Amino acid sequence: MAETFNPTPQHIGIIMDGNGRWAAQRALPRSAGHREGAKAVQRTIEAAEKMGIKYLTMYAFSTENWSRPPEEIDTLMNLLEKTLDEYQKSAHKKDLRILISGEREHLRADILAKMDALVAETAQNKGLSVNLALNYGARQEIAHAVNRLLAQGVKTVTPQDISLNLYQPEMPDPELIIRTSGEERLSNFLLWQAAYSEFYFTPVLWPDFNEEELQKAVENYRTRKRRFGAI
Ligand code: IPE
Ligand code: IPE
Ligand code: MG
Repeated sequence: MAETFNPTPQHIGIIMDGNGRWAAQRALPRSAGHREGAKAVQRTIEAAEKMGIKYLTMYAFSTENWSRPPEEIDTLMNLLEKTLDEYQKSAHKKDLRILISGEREHLRADILAKMDALVAETAQNKGLSVNLALNYGARQEIAHAVNRLLAQGVKTVTPQDISLNLYQPEMPDPELIIRTSGEERLSNFLLWQAAYSEFYFTPVLWPDFNEEELQKAVENYRTRKRRFGAI
């Protein structure tokens, strides 16, 4: 086995990509890929808990995803609603803390209400923190942080000020960011927090992602030599 330099990461960010291609490979509608993708979310949360990871940020819907056809957006929103209902029943049992990062604009009122209730009800849970990046864009998040600082009347800002005014100021930066489906880009995900993240790109399509794939990504991360500018 390769030499390991790092402990298991505390915080992993995941860009869950490839649902559409997974469906296309099976001549199924894209919605079928999204439904399988939702199952992979559950599997991954359970695997992360087992591995002792503390925070998982999962990119579920980007601010750019509104440019998809309305039927696909409906499918995604209905799946999201179903997922929120499932968490409503199971999050306490699993001690999960659910957080949501993103803009509220354009989201359905009933979904916003379910999101708020779930975040409030799980706020005291001590297990894995699952941060759903929903209607999320990293540039919007940075602008949001700066606007909060401006509202406090500041004249100049430091990097630390920005970190402390992001959507989840208490979360450490992700040590590892995983993207499935072979694409190698951030697509407006955690731009600020990823300054020193390690990246792991895999051709596996999101609906096929599982515990073994997560373990592979973490094992790979553990062999990376992180230098942070030093030698
Ligand atoms: C990821 O899968 C899910 C979302 C972006 C919501 P895609 O729907 O982007 O799947 P591909 O990239 O078309 O295969
Ligand atoms: C990124 O995937 C967004 C999510 C996974 C939610 P996309 O499929 O939207 O990204 P691009 O458009 O290929 O960059
Ligand atoms: Mg995609």
